Amino acid sequence: MQVKGGLAGSFQPSFVEPTAISVPASPDKRLGDLEFDIGAAALAQPGRHAVWPMAKGIITDFDAMERLWAACIYKRLCVYPEDHNFILTEPPLNPPEHRETTAEIMFETFDVPGLHIGVQAVLALYAGWAMAEKAGTKRQLASTVHHSGNPLTGVVIDSGDGCTHCIPVVDGYVVGSAIRSIPLAGRDVTRHMLHMLRSSHGAALPPLQAADLAVKVKEQLCYTCSNPEREAGKYTSEPGKYAREYSFVDARSGKEVSITVDHERYLGPEIFFNPSLTSFNDGRVVPLHAAVDDAVQSCAIDTRRALYGNVMLSGGSTMFRDFDKRVQKEVQTLVNARTGGSASTSGAVEGQQVMGPPQVQVVAHPLQRHAVYAGDSVLGASPAFRSAVVTRAEYEEHGAHIVRNNPVYTEW
Ligand SMILES: Nc1ncnc2c1ncn2[C@@H]1O[C@H](COP(=O)(O)OP(=O)(O)OP(=O)(O)O)[C@@H](O)[C@H]1O
Ligand SMILES: [Mg+2]
Repeated sequence: MQVKGGLAGSFQPSFVEPTAISVPASPDKRLGDLEFDIGAAALAQPGRHAVWPMAKGIITDFDAMERLWAACIYKRLCVYPEDHNFILTEPPLNPPEHRETTAEIMFETFDVPGLHIGVQAVLALYAGWAMAEKAGTKRQLASTVHHSGNPLTGVVIDSGDGCTHCIPVVDGYVVGSAIRSIPLAGRDVTRHMLHMLRSSHGAALPPLQAADLAVKVKEQLCYTCSNPEREAGKYTSEPGKYAREYSFVDARSGKEVSITVDHERYLGPEIFFNPSLTSFNDGRVVPLHAAVDDAVQSCAIDTRRALYGNVMLSGGSTMFRDFDKRVQKEVQTLVNARTGGSASTSGAVEGQQVMGPPQVQVVAHPLQRHAVYAGDSVLGASPAFRSAVVTRAEYEEHGAHIVRNNPVYTEW
């Protein structure tokens, strides 16, 4: 899990670091205010051990989190918090008490003038919408918008390192009861890659470097195919066209080593669609497309057409080439199988002509790697932010309770 931060208006975060802080190994040795580090530096500090203040996106240690925020603000962003409004993000179904504690720390420790706590899935939708608007495809997306006209309707597939969530959002509200999660994400693809690379290249992989190499091969060479059987045939008939060489320096010998990566290229991300490929899967994990379909089917019938029409990708593990096309194809197949491919009233809006089965549209866009951050950043720089922010005066008047419920962005 990583912490990302930057200034409003920038599409990419100015820092991305592991969500870890260093603390002294012996408890009696106290650290000064900012005498600790975070992220990669924290993990590498001798004589200290690393603390991870979050697990699965939820804060588990607020003292450590406060230090992490302090380091992000003073050491990474290099700003005085009392001069800036802040946006923090939370996973769906974050406990309301956590929102209140977060507000207390931001207003009382850091003295911020204003705070907005945004829901990650909603911000990812916001980023996708902003990109569509920038690219001039707003009109196309608008045809999929829910009948209320609010573009913040869609299903977000958020796949990072630890977990993959399918989160339906209707008119800016997360449909909490319809969220579906599968325990497959980036680290599982890495593990699967490592397993395959070890089987095919055993001795060539230095044990201490193997895990890092698996991540690099995954990020640089893997892609999603439309049909694994057909893809296997391509590699067999024309290996030279599809296989790739990956070179690295063996730290033991200092020599350059080259390995050939072939079927692993498409079989890595294939676990999202065929979880039974993984040796560590107990057979009960549903494929990603089934989770998306189930999430939509758990929402009100009149929202489903709009939800299928705006499936937004977010997070590092959605970055495989053609991931969007495969998800779209598989979900559409499930939808067609249910409706028999014929006209259906499912999700049709009253008074509208029935137009056949819902059309699935999966949206990939240039900001999807850090979509939540990008959504924050666009929101922070837009006029809509003024109505979303809780000011210090409001906090002082109402107390932390004011952040208990999340406002929704409706200004466009
Ligand atoms: N180009 C890429 N292709 C495939 N995977 C990638 C790519 N870039 C990053 N990843 C993978 O994405 C994952 C990190 O994604 P992300 O930054 O969204 O996670 P996170 O938000 O820190 O974690 P989580 O959401 O699980 O808490 C890692 O597994 C990384 O290897
Ligand atoms: Mg994430």
